[in-house]
Amino acid sequence: GLRKKEVNVLCLGLDNSGKTTIINQLKPANHSNHLGPLSEDWKHASQTQAQEIVPTIGFNIEKFKSSSLSFTVFDMSGQSRYRNLWEHYYKESHAIIFVIDSGDKLRMVVAKEELDTLLNHDDIRSKKIPVLFFANKMDLRDAMSSVKVSQMLSLEKIKDKPWHICASNAIKAEGLQEGLDWLQEQIA
Ligand code: GTP
Ligand code: MG
Repeated sequence: GLRKKEVNVLCLGLDNSGKTTIINQLKPANHSNHLGPLSEDWKHASQTQAQEIVPTIGFNIEKFKSSSLSFTVFDMSGQSRYRNLWEHYYKESHAIIFVIDSGDKLRMVVAKEELDTLLNHDDIRSKKIPVLFFANKMDLRDAMSSVKVSQMLSLEKIKDKPWHICASNAIKAEGLQEGLDWLQEQIA
């Protein structure tokens, strides 16, 4: 058949925001016979892979396919000592997933600083690549709403790129499909 379009997705955000948990949910449970992120394997993956997640060192590369796209996801560490690695992957990226811990009010300003640095970078500023935000950990009792998160990050100021924000609970895989659907529409 036709070759699937290959897309590089960069997954960014502060440490502990839930990036690896989200990416793990998008990976199919069975690698030898997978149908992609929108498959029936979805729920199963959440149960089998959820416990294994540890803070990322450097970054991990994950590959998975949807019906039309072949994704390579760069799951970057959000720890401050590794954030300087992010920019090395800006040039090759076709989309960005930026994850925020909606319960981490104290570090929202740090998340905004990192986002602003990203959006002002030479290799990103001029590119019209889609940016998908997950306001993650919406299950936490004191989580901010996605509207509040988008206000805190001044997302309305992003005029030169398509962007979208979804509230998510990565542990239960809630909100992830809506985000992925939007991203696929932007890329396809
Ligand atoms: P780094 O690799 O250090 O940058 O962190 P990360 O962004 O990859 O975060 P990770 O996926 O390792 O998740 C950090 C912690 O948050 C883990 O204990 C997860 O189980 C937890 N977590 C992730 N998503 C959610 C969520 O939606 N709700 C709740 N309550 N906890 C979550
Ligand atoms: Mg991680």
